[in-house]
Amino acid sequence: METQEFTSMPRIGDKAPEFKAVTTQGEINFPADYKGEWVILFSHPADFTPVCTSEFMTFATMEDKFAEANCKLVGLSIDGLYSHIAWLRSIKEKIEYKGMKDVEVKFPLIEDITMEVANKYGMVQPNEDSTKAVRAVFFIDPEGIVRTMIYYPLSLGRNFDELYRVIIALQAADEFGVATPADWRPGDDVIVGPAGSCGTAEERMTDSDMDCKDWYFCTKKLDKDTVLEKILKK
Ligand code: BEZ
Repeated sequence: METQEFTSMPRIGDKAPEFKAVTTQGEINFPADYKGEWVILFSHPADFTPVCTSEFMTFATMEDKFAEANCKLVGLSIDGLYSHIAWLRSIKEKIEYKGMKDVEVKFPLIEDITMEVANKYGMVQPNEDSTKAVRAVFFIDPEGIVRTMIYYPLSLGRNFDELYRVIIALQAADEFGVATPADWRPGDDVIVGPAGSCGTAEERMTDSDMDCKDWYFCTKKLDKDTVLEKILKK
């Protein structure tokens, strides 16, 4: 009988597993060093590979945009520090792609030859590849709690507009006590939390601040500037 190996991984709502690691920006103590900030911890399969290079150039180009949303970036692959350094130097010195050139990756890239961190986060998925991390993305909040996870296979480069949308939507949900509907972007209507009683359900249907399709599906306006002023650092 064929056996299937299962990889352990954190779940949404769990504390982000702790680790200390060597990175291209010095040692980090995770997630303690990021207390009070959002952080995107992400893995890539290998240095000196084309999809990963396109992703790193995109992330590095967007780093300031994420920083405005109080969000730091931390990368990881199962490569050594000198490989990381050489790859990041090559990106800056040699690679021009989609109008991006002279791109300096300033965020930390973790060396994880032992796979200690990758295994803690379920980044190695053996049926995809047993020695390379998949393209995992963990969104971790200022209290060190995992709030969203997205996994992509080796062949599929990530959508960075979506990663940015997730960071803004998570913070908007926290700040304004709402949920965000499909494809939500700042300025779109938001979802009001579920009615907890028959009375509230009835009141909602006549509340002029809400648009209720039915008692369980009510939206309200949330102005784009209000969202962005709250979330983005001046
Ligand atoms: C890439 O980044 O190009 C890549 C890495 C591993 C497997 C396939 C593609």
